[in-house]
Amino acid sequence: ALEKAAALKARVKTPGNPISALTAYDYPTARLLDEAGIDLLLVGDSLGMVVLGYPDTTHVTMEHMLHHVAAAARGCKKALLLGDLPIHSYTTPEEAVRNARRLVEAGAEAVKLEGGIRQAEKVRAITEDGIPVVGHLGMLPQRVKEEGGYKKKGKTEEQVAALLEGALALQEAGIDALVLESVIPSVARKLSEQLEVPTIGIGCGNGNTHGEIAVITDLLGSYPWFVPPFATPRAAHGQSTSEAALAYQKAIKPFGEE
Ligand code: KIV
Ligand code: NA
Repeated sequence: ALEKAAALKARVKTPGNPISALTAYDYPTARLLDEAGIDLLLVGDSLGMVVLGYPDTTHVTMEHMLHHVAAAARGCKKALLLGDLPIHSYTTPEEAVRNARRLVEAGAEAVKLEGGIRQAEKVRAITEDGIPVVGHLGMLPQRVKEEGGYKKKGKTEEQVAALLEGALALQEAGIDALVLESVIPSVARKLSEQLEVPTIGIGCGNGNTHGEIAVITDLLGSYPWFVPPFATPRAAHGQSTSEAALAYQKAIKPFGEE
């Protein structure tokens, strides 16, 4: 696990070979993505929305995460399996370490948590415990209620300064990579230039980070009720599910018919 995380970190030096990352929450999806050669699989707390049907990620618990990390881990061999620490699971460094260990026992090889400067101490505690950490800056879904929605980050000088300060603090605390979510493209690019760890973007425009991450349901078109504006669906699983269900229903013979 440590070697995989070190290899991820080293990808900052091979910009021509960008990091591919997708979320996976179950065994078959993890296995398919792993066999397809995706570099990193994230058991994201986005599962709260796209798997469990909650309105946002603030309802996700450690129990939810452990259940899905274990399932995805059974299907993941080559990719780095990253697990999200959910909201309220890392309020102190001690709690962060305890819950990071639980994710690792369930099969995660690294953990991710949201936030900058205020999380640096927790990141340090987890990395000193021997567990690789990935940071997450920009739009922070666990704070969506305080923020009043999903908004772009890096629009003001103040936000740009906070992003850079946070990123440097996380880097100093030992992260192996940094997810940037919904950061203004030019700012994501600038941050990526200034860091020694690779950045993995979502909603930051293509080519402004050292890799890309997407939520698997956005890629597959399997959660049609909410599609973020930056998503690029490459399949229509929602539609094919409905069509298959309809075809199945139509093919059921009335009782007694040959
Ligand atoms: O939970 C998640 O899917 C994430 C990605 C958006 C990075 O954290
Ligand atoms: Na997440």
